[in-house]
Amino acid sequence: MTDWEPLLRRLRDRTGFALGPERMPEVEAAARRAMGRAGVDGLPAWLEWLDSGRAPMTELIDELMVGETYFFREPAQLGLLEEVLPAITTPISLWSAGCASGEEAYSMAILARDLGVADRTRILGTDISRASLEKARSARYGEWSLRGPASLRARAWLTSDSAPRPTYAVDPRIRGAVTFEHLNLVTDPYPSQQDVIFCRNVFIYLRQPVIAEIARRFHGALVDGGWLVLASSDPPLGPPFATVRTDYGIVYRRAPPALRTAPPPPQPVRPPPRRAVAPPAPAAPPRAPPRPPPEPVAAPVADPVARVRALADGGDLAAAERAAAEAHRLSPMRPELHYLHAVLLVELSQGPRAVEALRRVLYLDPASVMAWMTLGTTLRAGGDAAGAKRAFQRVRQLCARLPPGEPIPMADGATATYLGRLAEREESRP
Ligand SMILES: C[S@@+](CC[C@H](N)C(=O)[O-])C[C@H]1O[C@@H](n2cnc3c(N)ncnc32)[C@H](O)[C@@H]1O
Repeated sequence: MTDWEPLLRRLRDRTGFALGPERMPEVEAAARRAMGRAGVDGLPAWLEWLDSGRAPMTELIDELMVGETYFFREPAQLGLLEEVLPAITTPISLWSAGCASGEEAYSMAILARDLGVADRTRILGTDISRASLEKARSARYGEWSLRGPASLRARAWLTSDSAPRPTYAVDPRIRGAVTFEHLNLVTDPYPSQQDVIFCRNVFIYLRQPVIAEIARRFHGALVDGGWLVLASSDPPLGPPFATVRTDYGIVYRRAPPALRTAPPPPQPVRPPPRRAVAPPAPAAPPRAPPRPPPEPVAAPVADPVARVRALADGGDLAAAERAAAEAHRLSPMRPELHYLHAVLLVELSQGPRAVEALRRVLYLDPASVMAWMTLGTTLRAGGDAAGAKRAFQRVRQLCARLPPGEPIPMADGATATYLGRLAEREESRP
């Protein structure tokens, strides 16, 4: 085990990863494969190669990265852009840092277009994984990239081929708005004058001191008054950022110049009085003391939902589907398992079986907004326009009965208002 320590040290230094002993088997297996490919026998010789720069660490880093993402992930957070972008009168720079295969950056481009600011908006997507960037640049995706509840918004900008398992190509106008570049957040220089940085689901993999340093550098990369958005599951940040609680979740802000010199007020962050981004917030204390270093990333997966997701995220959708089928055979009363199974069946182009799975969710939970929503899209894809309309109508009615900001189960943070509006739009489509 200790033999591998020099490699772990190099990896930690290069990437900032929180690589604990629990990831050792994974690192070891990936390193052995990389050595095999390079035709190098033994770790010392390979380390020498790495240090001399003759063998890049790229492949190993690519293998260890978790590039899991999809269109309009955590859509409530993307709502911040709807609030902020129209108010910017100068050219706009958006950065998706740790963009993985690019769905987040393209979602930003779609929003910019919907908001009518695309002509003056530049979007940069960066990642450490060259394999992910290659996929991002190809701008071609499978159904799994559209599994989020808000991905309907992306579909209007995607063209599918007629293969049994279709591939979706991003519209050239959206594609042209985004540039992808390789950028290691730990070692590389950052772009400057960014209006909004999204860095979601990246810090969960990194060590605490590395996170603090990256946050400091993000602060420097923003314009005065610029925004940093992390995922809701990311560790919270403190100064120099001001923490602002909005209807889009907690976001971080570089204070405008006049406020940056003001001493931080003692009171905690309060919710803004209206559905808007809070006014330029004075520097405020973080909402909670910093959390301890993140949990090990590759902890054994006991929960069946997590196990199915891990298989799907790893790209083996058929195995994920089998695991989902087995899991709900053992626990037939868990609607979320049937729902996950349905989503996988959609991806595997098994529409009729997906519809059956969704009906099982609705038998267990007739008020499941997400089951009705997915039923609507699946029926429409299968040519049942009337059935789809009824399903979207049901979503609209269910959402109208819920408090507007209520997050919907299995909907990735999307609220009743948001999904209600989405369903209304779908319902009115011919
Ligand atoms: C789970 S994905 C997040 C994708 C997207 N931001 C989202 O939230 O859906 C995490 C990404 O962070 C990238 N990453 C991890 N460490 C990095 C580093 N040091 N520099 C740049 N990217 C990094 C990984 O390659 C991976 O693609």
